[in-house]
Amino acid sequence: MKFNTKAIHGGQHHEEHTGAVMPPVFQTSTFAQKSPGVLINGYEYSRGANPTRTALENALASIENGARGLAFSSGLAATDCVMKLLKPNDEVIAMDDLYGGTYRMFTRIYQDMGIKFHFVDMNDLDKFQSLINENTKLVWVETPTNPLMKVVDIAAIAKITKAKNILFAVDNTFATPYLQRPIDLGADIVMHSATKYLGGHSDVIAGALIIKDAELGDKMHFLQFATGATLGPQDSYLVLRGIKTLHLRVQRHSENGQKVAEYLAKHPKVAKVYYPGLENHPNHDIAKKQMSGQFGGMVSFTFKSGAKADAIKFLEDLKVFTLAESLGGVESLANHPALMTHASIPEPKRKEIGITDDLVRLSVGIEDADDLINDIEQAFS
Ligand SMILES: Cc1ncc(COP(=O)(O)O)c(C=O)c1O
Repeated sequence: MKFNTKAIHGGQHHEEHTGAVMPPVFQTSTFAQKSPGVLINGYEYSRGANPTRTALENALASIENGARGLAFSSGLAATDCVMKLLKPNDEVIAMDDLYGGTYRMFTRIYQDMGIKFHFVDMNDLDKFQSLINENTKLVWVETPTNPLMKVVDIAAIAKITKAKNILFAVDNTFATPYLQRPIDLGADIVMHSATKYLGGHSDVIAGALIIKDAELGDKMHFLQFATGATLGPQDSYLVLRGIKTLHLRVQRHSENGQKVAEYLAKHPKVAKVYYPGLENHPNHDIAKKQMSGQFGGMVSFTFKSGAKADAIKFLEDLKVFTLAESLGGVESLANHPALMTHASIPEPKRKEIGITDDLVRLSVGIEDADDLINDIEQAFS
């Protein structure tokens, strides 16, 4: 099956008792048993499994080409489940540009538990390889990254991690499986903030893991079941419903994102545009190779003035774009990473990686592109 068909039918079947085309929201905590320990249809207690969540998890596995999908109560809960595979003294090599909450979890929770983190731009493969030692257990990549839209060559990293038997996880939130499928490129685990494009309508907080190997998938299901950060049936339904239009939405997000990025690149008030679909993006060639011909709806930029006040005024004056955290919904959102999504990264570290105070991040929605560009123009003026 091709992606557009999988988005709608992958891992799905109609409900057996009524023929309902969409799975009902099985709003139940527990399931009756025939005899102690003898289950009616495999379901026991909804922390372990719930039929609505199962339908979503099967869809997730299908669209990312993994053996197993798991749905979590947030993206960070999904990341946390991966971290639970590690032990003290294990080492993690992570991309230097990451969602602020991921950085916060790594440095303020797991570092204190004895896990060592190295943050590096993995476009420098020599530097990346020089950090690998016998304690290296996990490589964690976002591509494109949040908020600087760096692109990392997934297949090149996978070749190295495979040879050294290191787990390789990719946060695929920005690209979505419509544009990029990390498991096909050699990754072991794909993570999503399903709050974003998978849900797609800014109405749910959810996370996902898709695991390439069935045995590792069972282990991760055990970790999830034993610690409890599962997604409820209503939210599972919403994410499943979102996935059914993922391909259509991401096509339009990408068309609009490209138009907005090209407009910004020519604007006299703009210093730098971060968008992998622009030919002058440092890794445009890698993006072209590993993404499917489009580059998504996330665009960041800085001001020629370099002034934080200009970025703030611009954000206050937008009318169609909403100033808000989050991304990936049908409506356009705008964000100031240093004050909002990435405020949890200490200022010196933010400055070091390039999250400046005049950086604005746009989540370009699926409205009419002309209206979005007109809105940006009036905010500039
Ligand atoms: C790239 C990325 N990964 C992970 C997360 C965390 O996801 P959640 O907010 O669903 O916990 C986010 C949230 O913004 C994100 O942008």
